[in-house]
Amino acid sequence: MGFDELEGCALVEHKAEFIVIEGQRPLFGEVYINGAKNAALSVISAAVAVNGVCTLENLPHIEDVDGLVSAIGALGAQCRFIDEHTLEIDGTNIHTHVAAYESIRKMRASYYLLGSLLGRFKKAEVALPGGCNFGTRPIDQHIKGFEALGATVWVEHGMIKAYAEKLTGANIYLDMVSVGATINIMLAAVQAEGVTVIENAAKEPHVVDTANFLNMLGAKVKGAGTDVIRITGVSALHGCEYMIIPDQIEAGTYMIAAAITKGDVTVRNIIPKHMDSLSAKLIEMNCTIEEGDDYIRVIGPEKLMPAHVKTMAYPGFPTDLQPQITALLSIAGGNCILTETVFDNRFQYVNELRRLGCNITTDNRMAVIEGVAELTGAEVSATDLRAGAALVIAGLAAKGHTTIGNIKYIDRGYEDIVLKLGALGASIRRETVATNLA
Ligand code: EPZ
Repeated sequence: MGFDELEGCALVEHKAEFIVIEGQRPLFGEVYINGAKNAALSVISAAVAVNGVCTLENLPHIEDVDGLVSAIGALGAQCRFIDEHTLEIDGTNIHTHVAAYESIRKMRASYYLLGSLLGRFKKAEVALPGGCNFGTRPIDQHIKGFEALGATVWVEHGMIKAYAEKLTGANIYLDMVSVGATINIMLAAVQAEGVTVIENAAKEPHVVDTANFLNMLGAKVKGAGTDVIRITGVSALHGCEYMIIPDQIEAGTYMIAAAITKGDVTVRNIIPKHMDSLSAKLIEMNCTIEEGDDYIRVIGPEKLMPAHVKTMAYPGFPTDLQPQITALLSIAGGNCILTETVFDNRFQYVNELRRLGCNITTDNRMAVIEGVAELTGAEVSATDLRAGAALVIAGLAAKGHTTIGNIKYIDRGYEDIVLKLGALGASIRRETVATNLA
């Protein structure tokens, strides 16, 4: 658009936020991990199924949680933060089964409201999910589960609509391991009549956490954490107090940051068992790992050894640590192959890592990573939440300045990442820049 076309356009001042890092400072000290984003999203959604009050502790203070809390508020739930990480949800006065587009359009996890509203009211209308920019994110398995329970499901005017005279327990075999479908079907089946069996179920920690929460509400869910979950329906759910699990992916992000900066960091408030696949990989790469009851200490080596990584459903290597480990592999002393088996097209961030000097070639779901001696700082931009975390990690190792844009993605899933890394010795800050856009 030329200058003359700008005449008459009001120049509106926008503010853009960036993270600026001066790299090559080893991280030292302790970092405390917050509650799991993905457990928070499913547990908050599950509270909508309750005609009563739930108090949720250890919630992370992140944008995705705030977004979902305002979405359930629009349904009529009374939500009150007792402190920064404790939320009281009173679902008594929920007056609609329709989760409108405006309140949930940025929230992929809003699809969990389908399961909880369908379970409670036998009807639900939720806007089609948005969410991260990688790969197609279908929900056909969620719909397959709801239909098996007796619901009629269709899409109309951008809304997914699910209606049932009643919900009846069923045997559901998932065509692929799906965290979302496993959780969403549980949310509906807990208030169906009879027994539901979900086979080929996901075993992620936050699937188990959601099942534990449902059982605290009076549901009868057995087998979560295995690939067969058995649910005996109940007529209603009651309120409870519940503390959600620590965030496996936040913890892994800081473990990798310690490794890439040749640092010595103790990651606290975690469940070390959840980190086994990453801990094993870091040891393979010549890191030192010390484990306690609720912490893991990571000491990064002078020289990282190469390793191959294949992402898998839990307990395999988590896809949500794939961009972060790719940054680490980029400065290992050799060639590495990373295979992404969960999502298609989850390598969009690689172009940004290349700007920092990474030598990566991708072909469909495989990345060949040739280790380089040193990364160099550059201007980059986050393409999704975990990609943003990978750029932070690479920037911590790069020589010179790295400026990361689009950090709204990072704020969706990481509480106080700049403060936490700064406390570990990183030279990192947020910068707000006024940009005049027509
Ligand atoms: C959850 O997404 C997480 N999101 C994702 O984390 C995580 O990457 C993913 O699980 C895998 O662990 C939340 O928990 C809110 P899936 P979800 O259903 O449930 C396909 C983050 O950064 N599939 O397990 O959407 C799907 O396309 C986010 O925190 C279908 O084909 O993942 C994918 O290839 C990113 N049909 C595979 O299954 C369906 O109906 C696994 O997806 C459902 C899924």
